[in-house]
This record gives sequence, structure tokens and C-alpha cells, in this order.
Amino acid sequence: MKKEKKTHALLFLLLLHFTLGQSDYAPHFYDNGPSSTSGNMALFSISEDTPVGTQVYILNGTDPEGDPVWYGLTFEKGSKEYFRVEPKSGNVTLIHELNREKQDELSMLVSITDGRNKVVETVRVFVTDTNDEPPEFQNLPFIINIPEDTAPGSSIYRVLAVDKDMGSGGSVSYYLQTSPFAKFTIDGNSGILRVKPGETLDYETTPTHFVTVVAKDGGGKYKGKHQVLTTTATITVNVIDAQDMPPSFVGTPYFGYVYEVSVPGSEIFTVYAKDGDQGNPNPIHYSIMNGSDGVFDINTTSGCITLTTFPSLLKNELYEIKVKASEIGPEDHLLDYDITIVTVRVVDLNNHPPTFYGENGPQSKFEVTMYEHPPAGEILRGFKITVNDSDQGANAKFKLRLVGPNRVLRVVPQTVLNEAQVTIIVEDSSGIDYEKGSTLSFKLLAVEIDTPERFSATADIVINLLDTNDNVPKFTSEYYIIRVPENSPGDSSVVSVTANDPDSGPWGEVKYTIYGSGSDLFSIHRSSGLISTQPWTSLDAEVRSKYNFYVKAEDSEGKYSLAEVFVTVLDMNDHPPAFDDKLLEKTMIIGTPVRVEAVDEDAESPNNVIEYSIMKADPDNAFDINPDTGEIQLKSYIKSMEIVQNITKQKDCKWSLVVQARDRGSPSFSTTAVVNIDITEAIKGRIISYFMGLSKRPLTVFGICVSIVTSLILLTICISTILYCSAVKKSRINPESNYIKVIRRVK
Ligand SMILES: *[C@@H]1O[C@H](CO)[C@@H](O)[C@H](O)[C@H]1NC(C)=O
Ligand SMILES: *[C@@H]1O[C@H](CO)[C@@H](O)[C@H](O)[C@H]1NC(C)=O
Ligand SMILES: *[C@@H]1O[C@H](CO)[C@@H](O)[C@H](O)[C@H]1NC(C)=O
Ligand SMILES: *[C@@H]1O[C@H](CO)[C@@H](O)[C@H](O)[C@H]1NC(C)=O
Ligand SMILES: *[C@@H]1O[C@H](CO)[C@@H](O)[C@H](O)[C@H]1NC(C)=O
Repeated sequence: MKKEKKTHALLFLLLLHFTLGQSDYAPHFYDNGPSSTSGNMALFSISEDTPVGTQVYILNGTDPEGDPVWYGLTFEKGSKEYFRVEPKSGNVTLIHELNREKQDELSMLVSITDGRNKVVETVRVFVTDTNDEPPEFQNLPFIINIPEDTAPGSSIYRVLAVDKDMGSGGSVSYYLQTSPFAKFTIDGNSGILRVKPGETLDYETTPTHFVTVVAKDGGGKYKGKHQVLTTTATITVNVIDAQDMPPSFVGTPYFGYVYEVSVPGSEIFTVYAKDGDQGNPNPIHYSIMNGSDGVFDINTTSGCITLTTFPSLLKNELYEIKVKASEIGPEDHLLDYDITIVTVRVVDLNNHPPTFYGENGPQSKFEVTMYEHPPAGEILRGFKITVNDSDQGANAKFKLRLVGPNRVLRVVPQTVLNEAQVTIIVEDSSGIDYEKGSTLSFKLLAVEIDTPERFSATADIVINLLDTNDNVPKFTSEYYIIRVPENSPGDSSVVSVTANDPDSGPWGEVKYTIYGSGSDLFSIHRSSGLISTQPWTSLDAEVRSKYNFYVKAEDSEGKYSLAEVFVTVLDMNDHPPAFDDKLLEKTMIIGTPVRVEAVDEDAESPNNVIEYSIMKADPDNAFDINPDTGEIQLKSYIKSMEIVQNITKQKDCKWSLVVQARDRGSPSFSTTAVVNIDITEAIKGRIISYFMGLSKRPLTVFGICVSIVTSLILLTICISTILYCSAVKKSRINPESNYIKVIRRVK
């Protein structure tokens, strides 16, 4: 083809020459071979790393006529111009950077002309390689997924890098930029990546490895120097989790609760286990190994532990259930497992009130029959009471209390946990008295102490009492004071005494008797207690006015008590007053009273109180009588014998009075006596009275006669003295004192 073109060009030039009619030869290039740097550039080669501006060739030609020639260099239209030629010298300079990897052959037209003829030739220039290209990894990015159980030494990948350079500069080798603990190696020639022998992968510690791989070319010339080019890339190695980890329970320790409201099937707790191989977890199978005591079940897939029975049938308060979680492998084989303990507590809800029990189950009334007055401290064994609260702990703690007549009974214990035997003890024996009531009623209370609900129970405690002869008959009074009129007829009722015995039956029947020194005149009705006089009794206050005796009340068992009866016989006015004599002779010294006295045999005032009065006197109005004492005296104006004589008109001065003595009884009795009063003057009256006194007391006459002699002597002196005194003092005499003196001496 080239030859043909050349031939065509020559033919064209010849043709042109002949046409012009001139004979001229065209210039031509020297052909100095492909390795020469002068010529027509045919098969010239140039290194791609030739710097721009370098003179790389000399176009060399000649004209046969020896004319100067000019050179030209053109590229095909549209292609880059790599060279420029200096037309005169033919020096060719690189004006554009070369890149073999893009264009390894340059095609252009070189021309030579002598001014008339121009020869154009097409030439090719070869671009030669230098090591200017780095290796280039293929198939980036490198992401590898490998199971963690990949065997050490296994090849896992092959990296590939391409270098476009030629020769050694285009060859590639590989190595890893790694730490000493690297888990991988690479084959330098083949680029095969392996797990380093002796190393294993562990998803759990490092799920992803980043490996830096370097691709290196073999090195080559570049701009005059030896150059080696490298490229790095990162291989991402994802470790895929394998089934190498057992499952494990999450959120332990586990605690579950059984409440009393739970029913069979109630969910108690749900355990949860997770496969350790989290990248690729296996399902878990749950099972109970031990400790469920047959009352718990577990859902093998959900791990939910349920109750299989009623809480009331649980024997323990605490269950420790051993639960196993196994991971399910291929073909449903159970592989690794984990074991944990679920602690299940049976929680008590305070849903049981305290309850009282008798011998045959729950009971709300307890009754016994017993004798009254059990001794203090005695346990009432007739009561068989149990109290129970089937809750637990504080919910089962309660107080016992007995409500009823105060301090009669006591309950033991006071505080109960869960269950106790209730004991009732007598505290106050006197409160348990048949006579106060044949039944005693109490309420027994059990009240929870520490619960918010304060559940409680009550039971009636009834004690039916049997009577005993615990009472003695008791008189209505400790003594009886009775007044009985004297002269009462026999069989008169005196008093009715009563003694009470509250005991029942014969124990309460009272029999009365009397005894004692004063009881002879009286009798008592055995059953009525009526005391009367004996039929033959006649009471006389004047004989004996006071009687006392005892009355005894006795029940059928001989229990008795006594009372004293004091009887006073009431005096009746059955005696009139009586004077000693019906006729009384009295001598009265003027100014001195005389006394009359009556006696009333009655025993008591006023029956024996006498009132004196003057019934009759002649002459009248000369005397006064003291109604109480019976003293009679002259009226005050009668002070001398003259007056007396003036009244009586007589010389002898004798009076006769009728004096009455009347008692104050009702009706009253009276009696009279005649009193003759002889009035004398003082001396005369004294002597008379003296002798009258002697005559009344004959036994003393002898003693008196002895003293007469002495008396006569004294009398003489006295008379003279009296005469003297009466002469001097006349009416101022003091007869009373003298009278007394005389009387004493006489006595
Ligand atoms: C051109 O080529 C001729 C013939 O080979 C040679 O003698 C001459 O030296 C060359 N000229 C240059 C400048 O190289
Ligand atoms: C061309 O090249 C030659 C040899 O390198 C040199 O001597 C000459 O001066 C150059 N001519 C021009 C015009 O650059
Ligand atoms: C179950 O637990 C009881 C008590 O902890 C123990 O004595 C018994 O050996 C256990 N049985 C099994 C099968 O683990
Ligand atoms: C176990 O639990 C799963 C999920 O809650 C449920 O679908 C399944 O019916 C339960 N199995 C039994 C036996 O209750
Ligand atoms: C005595 O009585 C008379 C007459 O009645 C009278 O005059 C006289 O004074 C009386 N004498 C005395 C002392 O009273």
C-alpha cells in the first residue's frame, strides 16, 4: 500500500513536470534506517518518557539539483500534534507528552520540498514503554464473607492487580501491609488470600477484619531512573458467625411469685435465653430439669413457666426450679445449653381471716356448763377452742381479746401467730356467781395486728352456771330493836325478822330459831321468822324492861347467820301516884318550904312523872306548890307571923291543904292527901322540927342525948346570939343555911 502510494505520488509529480514542460528532479529523504536519528522518521521509535522540548530527530534529505530543501511535518487532521519541525534544519522537537499506554504508534506526514517539487511521505513513529503505570486492582472493592470456622490455611480469595506497563514494569506481585498479629497471608505471585496457618477467626471478638493489600510492579526505567510502583487496597473480611457459642439466659437471676389468687395455668415467670452465636442464632428449647416438684411447667418455645395446680396445694413456700435452655441445631438436635435457677416464692396474700375452731371444725359459739365460783386461776377446760389464721407471716398475726364482764375471765395467749390453743382462765371468782346470773356471756375476739385489712373473728363464749350453796342466809339487819307494850297478851306478835339466802332450792330455804338468856318469854316461827311472846308471857316494864337474845337463820346445810334482837318493854300507865300517908303533918318555918312527895310505881316517864297541885286550902291563897318537886311554901308576901295570923285570924296558925299528885301518863292517874301545916316562927319551928326529927329516928336518940349537955350550952349562946341578931337585922334572917347546918349535925 505504501509503495503504491509512493508510486502514485511520483507519477503525479512526473505528470506535473511534463505538464509544466520543465525537466526538474524532486528532492528526497535519506533512508538511514530505523535506528538512525536522521532520515525520514520512518520506523523511528521514541520513549514515552521523553521530555517535551527535546530535539528527537533530524529530517534529512537532499535535492538532486542541490537546491536547498525545506522540511514539513503534519499530522492527520483531528489528531494531536506531538512534533514540530524546524523547516530549514529539519530538527524535530517533541512538543507534547507521550503516553504509550494511550497511543503507542504515531502516524504523520513528512515532506521535503526544493521550492518547486514537494515530496510527502507518510511515516509511523513508535512510542516505546517506560515504567510509568502503577498496578491497578481489579474488582474493587474487596469484600469477603467467610465463616468464622474457616480452617487455618484455607484460601479465601484471590486478588488481582493489572499493570499496563510492559515487561518487568508490567509484572505484579502482592503483599499485605499487616500487623504481626494478622490472621491472613497472601501469595505474592498469585494474589491468593489465606487464613494464616495456625490462626482461627472469632466472630465474637472480631466480626470484621480490614486487610491492606499492596500490589507491586517489577520496576523499570522511567525518566532515566529505576522506578517501582505500588498500589494498596483494603480487603474487608466479614467473619460469619458459626454455631460455636452456647445459649445463655438473659436477665438472671430470676424470681417468680405464686400468688394465692393464681390458678392452674397462671404464668409465673418467663425465662429468656439467647444463642451466643448472635450473628446466626439458633432457636432455643426450654425445659425444666429439676425442682418443679411437679407443680410447674414450662413452654418449650416461649420459656413461660406456668403453675399446674392450685396454690393451696403447694407444699413449699419456695421453689428453686432448674431450667435448661438448649439451642436447636440441624435436624432438631439439641446442642449447647445453659442452666439457670428460677426462684419461685409463694406469696401470701392476706386473704384468710382468723377463724375459731371447735373439735369439729369452724365454730362461732362455745358453751360450757359448770359450777359457780371456780377458783381464780383455774383453766376452764370445758372450752376446746383453737384459733387459726392460715395466712403467713405478719398476715397471720392476731390478738385475742375477751369482751364481757370486766376482769372475770382472761384469755391466753394474747397474741397468736398462725394457730393457737385458746385457754380461758378464771381471774375473778366472785364474778362467776349463779346468783348474779345463771349464764355468763363473753365475746372472744381475734383481730389481726399488722395487716391493713384487720380481719377479725368473733365467737360467743357462753357459761351456764350451776348453783352451789355459796350463800349463808343473811338477815336484813344485824340487830333488831323492838318495843313491846307491857301487859301485851300472850302470843302477841313482836317482830318478823327476815334472812335471805339467794341460793336455789333447799340451800335457799331458811329456818329461824332464837336463843339466849332473854329468849325464854319469846318464840319464833321456824319458817316465817315471826317472833311472838309465849302464850303465858306477861310483860311488866316495872319488873324488867329490857330483853335481848339472838335469832339464828339457817339453811338446809346448816349455814347460818345471827342477828341480835333487843326488846324493850314499853311502860304503860298502870300505876297511880301514891302518897306515903293520906294525912301528912308538916311544920313550916316561915320562909322555908315543906315538901310532900308521892311515888308512882310506873317504870317510865311520863307515867311516873308526878305533877303536884293544891286542890283545896283554908284559907285560900296562902300557899304555892312547886308542881315538879312538891315543895309547898307561903306566898311571898307572907313574911311574918303577924301576917299569918292576920290571914288565919287565929293564934295557932294551922293550915290544912288538900294536895293532889297526878302522873302524866295517858290516861293519867291522880291521888290526893291532906297536909296539915303548922306554921311557926324560925326558932320555935327549929326546935320543933329538931325534936320531931329525933322522934322519927329513935336509933340515934342515945347519941343525941350525949350531946344534949353540950347542945344546951351552945343553945344558950345561940339564943342570945339570935336574939341579938334578930334585934339588929329584924327581917334579914337566913333561916335556910341554919336549917341545913342543923340537919347535918343531926345526921
Ligand atoms: C545526511 O545523510 C548523509 C548520507 O548518509 C550524511 O552524509 C550526512 O551527514 C547527513 N547529514 C546530517 C546533518 O546528518
Ligand atoms: C539543528 O541541529 C544541529 C545538530 O544538533 C545543530 O547543530 C543546529 O544548530 C540545529 N539547527 C537549528 C536551526 O536549530
Ligand atoms: C433434683 O434436686 C434435688 C434437690 O436439690 C437433688 O437431690 C436431686 O438429685 C436432683 N435431681 C436431679 C435429677 O438433678
Ligand atoms: C408456647 O408458647 C407459644 C408462644 O407463646 C405458643 O404459641 C404455644 O401455643 C405455647 N405452647 C403451649 C404448649 O402452650
Ligand atoms: C291586920 O288586918 C287589919 C284589918 O284587916 C289591918 O288593918 C292591919 O293593918 C293588919 N295587920 C297587918 C300586920 O297586916
